[in-house]
Amino acid sequence: MSTPLLSLHGVSRHFGGLIAVEDVSFDLHAGELIGLIGPNGAGKTTLFNLITGFSQPTAGLIQWQGHAIQHLPAAEIARLGIARTFQNLRVFPNLTVFDNVSVGAVGHQNYGLFDALLRRKQAAKNVTAATWKALELTGLTPYANELAANLSYGKRKYLEIARALAFSPQLLILDEPAAGLNDTETAELSKFLRRLNQHGITLLLVEHDLNLVMNLCRRVLVLASGQLIADDTPQVIAKDKAVQDVYLGSDEVAA
Ligand SMILES: Nc1ncnc2c1ncn2[C@@H]1O[C@H](COP(=O)(O)OP(=O)(O)O)[C@@H](O)[C@H]1O
Ligand SMILES: [Mg+2]
Repeated sequence: MSTPLLSLHGVSRHFGGLIAVEDVSFDLHAGELIGLIGPNGAGKTTLFNLITGFSQPTAGLIQWQGHAIQHLPAAEIARLGIARTFQNLRVFPNLTVFDNVSVGAVGHQNYGLFDALLRRKQAAKNVTAATWKALELTGLTPYANELAANLSYGKRKYLEIARALAFSPQLLILDEPAAGLNDTETAELSKFLRRLNQHGITLLLVEHDLNLVMNLCRRVLVLASGQLIADDTPQVIAKDKAVQDVYLGSDEVAA
């Protein structure tokens, strides 16, 4: 098989005496659509922060296309092609949808945020193109000139994804994208994520809610108390005794 896009080798993150992530290893290949699930407190967000450079592992190696990245700052990792969204929406409410997204694209061009906004009109054509492409992929083109504050909660989630897409990432990691969405919105999100994946974007979906992941992903990683306890197809995961115990042991219901 070709070099993995992303590999984790024995990655751990301790906070003082607290073990948030312990000895996690897995490979992710280009084109995959992978889910990472686990009950609250399992270490999902911590692992996500380690991969995206928002936190550094206390042990282990993280490789992007064969190169160690675990000590690189977040901005550098984003430039290499790993984009992320945040569990809590980080949208600039007083900027238009277009500007919110172009900030992402311009950020990728390596300008400062302030500079980028001041010079937006003269900004490189490829920034504008990347912005329109991201808006188109997320269905936000009709809202380009709306203030972000005027978007519904559901639309703001797509805006957050559009901002990450403006980086033209190879790998997009989403933290709990379905949080706060109703069933209809979640079904739409699922279709949208499948379409993104078909556009060639590798997706790692970090989800607390099992349903979306089990229906959408071809491979599911299960984290419990910081450890990877399963890595398999949704069909196998659904029948896995250890996974059932973890979910039944908490107050959540398995799919
Ligand atoms: N910055 C931090 N300092 C101390 N403990 C943390 C920090 N971030 C996360 N933790 C702890 O690490 C564990 C895993 O948390 P988290 O990664 O947020 O889990 P999840 O996203 O799966 O709900 C929890 O016990 C949490 O309290
Ligand atoms: Mg979390």
